[in-house]
Amino acid sequence: MTKKETQSSSPHQDLLDELEAERAKTWAGGGPARIETQHGKGKLSARERIRQLLDEGSFQEVSPYIVHRHTHFGMDEKRYPGDSVITGFGKINGRRVCLYAQDFTVLGGSFSEVQGQKVAKIMDMALEAGVPVIGLNDSVGARIQEGVYSLAAYAELFYRNTLASGVIPQISVMLGPCAGGSVYSPGLTDFVIMTKGTSHMFITGPDVIKTVTHEEVDLETLGGAMTHSAISGVSHFAADDEPATLALTRALLGYLPANNAEPPPAVEPTDPPWRMDEALNTMVPTNSSEAYNMKTVIRAVIDCDSFLEVHEHFAENAIVGLARMHGQVVGIVAQQPLTLAGVIDIDASDKIARFIRFCDAFNIPLITFIDSPGFLPGVNQEHSGIIRHGAKIVYAYSEATVPKLAVVTRKAYGGAYIVMSSKFIRTDLVFAWPTAELAVMGAEGAVNVLYRKQLKAAENSDEDRARLIAEFKERFAKPYAAAAAGHIDDILVPAETRPRLIAALELLRDKHVVLPAKKHGNIPL
Ligand code: HXC
Repeated sequence: MTKKETQSSSPHQDLLDELEAERAKTWAGGGPARIETQHGKGKLSARERIRQLLDEGSFQEVSPYIVHRHTHFGMDEKRYPGDSVITGFGKINGRRVCLYAQDFTVLGGSFSEVQGQKVAKIMDMALEAGVPVIGLNDSVGARIQEGVYSLAAYAELFYRNTLASGVIPQISVMLGPCAGGSVYSPGLTDFVIMTKGTSHMFITGPDVIKTVTHEEVDLETLGGAMTHSAISGVSHFAADDEPATLALTRALLGYLPANNAEPPPAVEPTDPPWRMDEALNTMVPTNSSEAYNMKTVIRAVIDCDSFLEVHEHFAENAIVGLARMHGQVVGIVAQQPLTLAGVIDIDASDKIARFIRFCDAFNIPLITFIDSPGFLPGVNQEHSGIIRHGAKIVYAYSEATVPKLAVVTRKAYGGAYIVMSSKFIRTDLVFAWPTAELAVMGAEGAVNVLYRKQLKAAENSDEDRARLIAEFKERFAKPYAAAAAGHIDDILVPAETRPRLIAALELLRDKHVVLPAKKHGNIPL
């Protein structure tokens, strides 16, 4: 008798063979032809994605056998073990995560009653275990054949997204044409990462739009990676292809704590904390209408190569991102003088406030670099609600209890002075550079408002105006009056910013603030 024949005659071996055969069915997805089609579109299969995302051999699958129980519209013929999603847990750089990966090869990855049950289970596990949850999204939306069953399953997911918000990090990775409910769950999560060319997000597809509004629109314009990264702000990152998207997801996880009761993960510092970059001393032009790149300032201060910019293409007049200082994670908020002079508009307000609240929820200290002439004036901004949007920034900074540090590099005018992490909305330490200008508005504007009548009447109005502007600048276009008033805590040689911030972060590491008890606040949404 051969070895194989001996084995197959054992009842235990028969059971193991049966299990192996059943397992193989759960790995098949929608079959080789559909996986080929998926590859043809430049997309990986759900299992290939999981393999690329997680540490090798770490994936533990949950509920691979479950099937749907619907019969209408030919659904009897369309039962696949595991249905249209793969769920489980594993590790990324040795740290635990839960995840789900929608399988487009099975009924377009449509969200079904069963998919909902599987995703709910994995989210419940993530919440109870206190680990991040990652969704690999590639789904046509609610499974039409299941009617309210699929809709209710979505509601269960959205409810869980909401409960998990601020407790565990939630990351949505977009890898296909995601429609309807498949974009609302990502919309509720902390970070959305899109893939250029192959991922799309939209509430209603081109066909529905054409029926309702007679408007012809292509998928890319409607909801491509750059549309959502640069225009709507729905997406925080846009990567070139799927491997880059998955690599970015791993990198992002490296900055996040597993849950809101843990500090973010520190790394062994490699960049000396006392490093002083002399180039900082001349980086800000003394002519206050000349621009400079705030990202160069940020990179010279933080640990070498540690900046992970968030929302890079959205509201480029503001900058937010994760970085490290002496190996510890920090959140950076800044204005970008290169774009609209760093003015604060509606999109910048939303971008900044949302990022502050994420950092505060997950114990990430905030460092703010300020150079802004204030809020963007104009009818459009007023009509679109700059008042309530701008209020979000001051609300977010005020309620944030993590360590907060600020550096005024140049303009902190008016509203920008107040809302951008000023001392009186409880920033722990506010520093200024010698180029800092803290005032209600710029010198020219101020003189025009204060002396309009006198200047109109005066014979030598140009001379008088120049003299008044010079006087105004002497008082407000320098940080000394603000420092004398106690509104800033010290004036720094720019090169010493890095060691001074690191020392302050070290002091504040265990900062503890208790806010008034309340059910929840009412942030001006
Ligand atoms: C079940 C669906 C489906 C759906 C598509 N399919 N949409 N099955 N429910 N909602 C099936 C297709 O028949 C096809 O099956 C397979 O999924 C892949 O779809 P394709 O159209 O071939 O793929 P593609 O060409 O890549 O186009 C993808 C798409 C398009 C742009 C997303 O399928 C589309 O517009 N679908 C409708 C999207 C939608 O309106 N969803 C419902 C949203 S309402 P076969 O077997 O032929 O390969 C919703 C409710 C919650 O989600 C809302 C909360 C806010």
